[in-house]
Order: sequence, then C-alpha cells, then structure tokens
Amino acid sequence: MKIAVLTGGGDCSGLNAAIRAVVRRAVSLRDDVYGIRHGWKGLLENDVIRLTVDGTSNILPLGGTILGSSRVNPFKVKNGLKRCLKNFKQRRFDALVFIGGEGTLNVAAALSKAGIPVFGIPKTIDNDAQGTDYTIGFDTAVQIATNAIDRLHTTAESHQRVMIIEVMGRHAGWIAAYAGIAGGADAVLIPEKVFPMKTLCSIIGKRARRGCNFSIVVVAEDAQIKLENGQILRTPLSRDEYGDVKLGGIGELLASEIRKRMDSEVRVTVLGHIQRGGTPTAFDRVLATRLGAHAVESLHRREFGRMAVIRGDKITSLPIKKMAGRVKKVDPAFYETVRLFLE
Ligand code: F6P
Repeated sequence: MKIAVLTGGGDCSGLNAAIRAVVRRAVSLRDDVYGIRHGWKGLLENDVIRLTVDGTSNILPLGGTILGSSRVNPFKVKNGLKRCLKNFKQRRFDALVFIGGEGTLNVAAALSKAGIPVFGIPKTIDNDAQGTDYTIGFDTAVQIATNAIDRLHTTAESHQRVMIIEVMGRHAGWIAAYAGIAGGADAVLIPEKVFPMKTLCSIIGKRARRGCNFSIVVVAEDAQIKLENGQILRTPLSRDEYGDVKLGGIGELLASEIRKRMDSEVRVTVLGHIQRGGTPTAFDRVLATRLGAHAVESLHRREFGRMAVIRGDKITSLPIKKMAGRVKKVDPAFYETVRLFLE
C-alpha cells in the first residue's frame, strides 16, 4: 500500500510517536509511507516527503511534529477540497492516516465521503474527542499542569498568596479537572459548570480562617464564573485567522474580581502553549504507538472512514461520522469527585 500521513490542528506531545508507529507498522507490512507537511495545507499544495524507518528512528521522545501542522481548512480555500482530491489521486496514494482533533476530523469526513480511504488517530491536549477515553497529548499536558501547580504551591505558601493558574482545554475542562485533582488545588473552575464567585471567595476565606493563608485556583480558559449580580464572567469571544475561537485571559479577569472582594494578594500564571510542547509522557508514547499501529492494521483490513479510539484498555475504532462535530465534555459525576477534594 502507499500510505500518506499528516498531522493537523494544534500540535501536542506524542505526535512524533504516532508518526513513528505508523511508519514502522506500515513498513513491516511492506507499505510505502509518505508524510504530508503542515496538515491539510500540504495536501492543498502537494507538499509531501518520503518517510522511512531510518528517518524516523529517533523521534519517539520528541515534542512537536516532524511533519509540521497547521489549522488550514480546505473548506475555506477556493476549490480546496477539489485540490486535495486531485493531489491525493495524482500521488496514487491508497490511503490517508490523519492524526488530528475536531477540525482535522471534519475535513477527513468530507474526503471520506468523496471516496478517499481515510483512517484517523485522535490527538489534542483538550481530550475532548467523542468516543475515546483519551487523546494523544492530554496526559502530557496534565503532567505539565500538575508540575506547575506543585511549584506554585510552595511559592503561594511562602508569600501567602492566592495563585490562579489558567490552563487550556478550549470548551472542555479535562486538563483543569485532572491537574486540579493531581495537584491538590483548592478550587477548579471548568466550562461545564458555572462557578459562583461567592463560593470561590468563601473557599479562600475559609482556608485563611483555618490558618491556610494561601490558595491555588485552577481555571480552564473557557470557565464561566457567576458574579453576585448574575452576570457571567468569561473570556470575551474572539476568533483567530482561521476562524477558530481564541481563548485566554480569564485568569486576569478572575484575579481582578477577587481583589475587589478580598484583601488577598493574587497572582496569575497562564500556562499557555507550554502545555503543548516538549517530550511526551510514557502514557502518551504508548497510546500513540498503539493507535498508530492500529490505524495501519485497520487499513489492511480495508476498514476506512474510521478513527482509532481507546476504551478502557482496548484499542478499537469508530466511524468518523459518529465522532465529527461532537465534543466530549467533563461528566458531572466526575466533576463531583473533583469537588470532594477541594478547599
Ligand atoms: O485545541 C488545542 C488548544 O491548545 C486549545 O486548548 C487552545 O484553546 C488552542 O488550541 C490554542 O490554539 P493556538 O495554538 O492556535 O493558539
């Protein structure tokens, strides 16, 4: 088989581990593998490189993606889909493995409908892909956020401050919830549950009264906080050059509301893209390797238009049309567990 592989959307740790797995498994089955550079942009522009076992031999622990990534969406480019189909056919590819999140999946679904044999591997630090327990990159992002919380704890205590740590996750609070539990945060604010400002101040106040004159507040970038007048505090909606929602800034907004109500000294740390960079955890490497191998094996079984998923400890796959356009939110029962360990 002649297999093409691409990484699309925001990068994360573990992408190279997935690329390496696709190459190794494919070569072991006597396939040829080609990398499309910078996501759908490379398919539009016919920017393709040959991938070999030797050429990918030391990339397992590397962050980023050797193929590059972008948020370019062929739907938003003149004749975009047509150009993708033409280049795919001209290159005589038999199948395409896409490693991506929601945006990449929507384009892949259209290509699949147009007859291109595609197979997906879910990645995003947000962990919001429907149908899979975990996506590549999430575990590493949680580990990075947890390390940051641990470090903020010691300086928060030394200076008796309220430390706000703003984490990514788009419209889902998975990173905040997991890192909040792992780091022993005092409050965790996620998009799925509107958090009253009154409750936050009462948590900080109660801790101070029992001698803990510092608090750690984890806030997801799209968290919603209800002020006493009923107004909702949330990052104002704006969009980037690709039309995707651009978030960030809720930490500072929240800090200024706390300052208005309490004497506490408040500091904000925005973790930002640090959560997406650097070496993947062992969990992400193993997950990426298993999903990558499964993608190639599925193509050999002629299972097209599907995406690999992990459920429990099993790797299986789902039709991409079942996953496209749907976001996996933090389950209310899980958030209750988070809340049990706060304060
Ligand atoms: O989807 C991954 C993600 O890191 C989100 O958590 C975040 O909101 C967004 O991408 C940031 O995108 P960009 O890299 O375009 O700033």
